[in-house]
Amino acid sequence: MARVLIQFAHPALSKSKVHSSLINYCRNINDVTFNDLYEKYPDMFIDVAAEQKLLLQHDIILFQHPFYWYSSPAIIKQWLDLVLEHNWAYGTRGNALVGKKMGCVISCGGGPDTYQETGRNRYSVNQFLLPFDQTAHLCKMEYLPPFVVHGTHRITKEELMRYAEQYRAILEALVHDQFSALDYQKVTYLNELAPSLLTTK
Ligand SMILES: Cc1cc2nc3c(=O)[nH]c(=O)nc-3n(C[C@H](O)[C@H](O)[C@H](O)COP(=O)(O)O)c2cc1C
Repeated sequence: MARVLIQFAHPALSKSKVHSSLINYCRNINDVTFNDLYEKYPDMFIDVAAEQKLLLQHDIILFQHPFYWYSSPAIIKQWLDLVLEHNWAYGTRGNALVGKKMGCVISCGGGPDTYQETGRNRYSVNQFLLPFDQTAHLCKMEYLPPFVVHGTHRITKEELMRYAEQYRAILEALVHDQFSALDYQKVTYLNELAPSLLTTK
């Protein structure tokens, strides 16, 4: 079993379509902790000791947020800058997070076709997420493929529900340690691991 911590950031949750659906559908999963950073720190004064304690209590850390300017909303950056301290998270004596897993759960206005060399956004989502990948590496954590919701501007209720079902199945599988290192290597997005989980339900 693994304990999952969702570090959630949406600066305008009352206007959200995608993340409000995902979090409503994925409420109350045993061993999944939901940590709403904007709700907790509206002034961005992050309680570093409390956040480090939360990290120590969990095995898998997921950053869940809308994709803003090819990155995260500002509070995630502030959180990274303050919480992942030298000689705590990284550095010669920084071993607090060794062996834990880290991943991203994001939603993008752009469709998959826009996130390729010939598309409007020129680079893949995974390329834009390289700072998270390398941050995990520096902290000796295992970086997971991201869970991605694409094309949010035109998404239908049915599509959104399918994403929510996939996300819930993935969270439950993460808690139950159902994926191997090879599973993660085989996929670009975690979403690709969901169909096999949903058909065996
Ligand atoms: C400030 C801002 C920046 C954005 N930047 C991007 C971006 O870089 N790439 C992208 O695909 N979508 C971008 N979008 C679209 C959002 O990612 C999209 O509206 C959001 O994921 C929808 O989720 P929600 O319904 O939970 O708000 C941006 C939206 C805003 C408001």
